[in-house]
Amino acid sequence: MTNYDRLTRQLEALLDTRDWLTNAAQTCAFIMQEVDRINWAGFYLQREPEILSLGPFQGKPACHPIPFSKGVCGAAARRREIQRVDDVYAMADHIACDADSRAELVIPIIAEDRVWGVLDLDSPIAGRFSEEDQSGFERLARVFIDASDLRRA
Ligand code: SME
Repeated sequence: MTNYDRLTRQLEALLDTRDWLTNAAQTCAFIMQEVDRINWAGFYLQREPEILSLGPFQGKPACHPIPFSKGVCGAAARRREIQRVDDVYAMADHIACDADSRAELVIPIIAEDRVWGVLDLDSPIAGRFSEEDQSGFERLARVFIDASDLRRA
């Protein structure tokens, strides 16, 4: 089982700058190193209205851009709610970047009431993300938000 208490403390220590770019790169590299059964971890940024641009990530080259109207990432940004999908194959509105991905967890990153972007996590195993994983990743995303200056993306 993933020890999110330990990961939260380690990520807090790792993110020692206010620079969101550095922190985003470190966060997705840290997740890929420390959490098992994940094949993609990264950020999409809202740099123009209602469009998600690919940001720092680890994994295979990915889809870009993603409008707020499309896919699991778009839904997280549009609804400002975490999206947890057990099996993306069973979902019509899913953007397949990597055929290996089966489960997906997308956490909106909101800063000063603006959707800064999303943190997207993919797993090759259907049902990979439990409620516990959801709250654990929510805590890791919060560490990133609190560490970073998100006034600009
Ligand atoms: N599957 C996502 C697209 C991004 S990739 O998984 C990296 C979606 O449906 O929004």
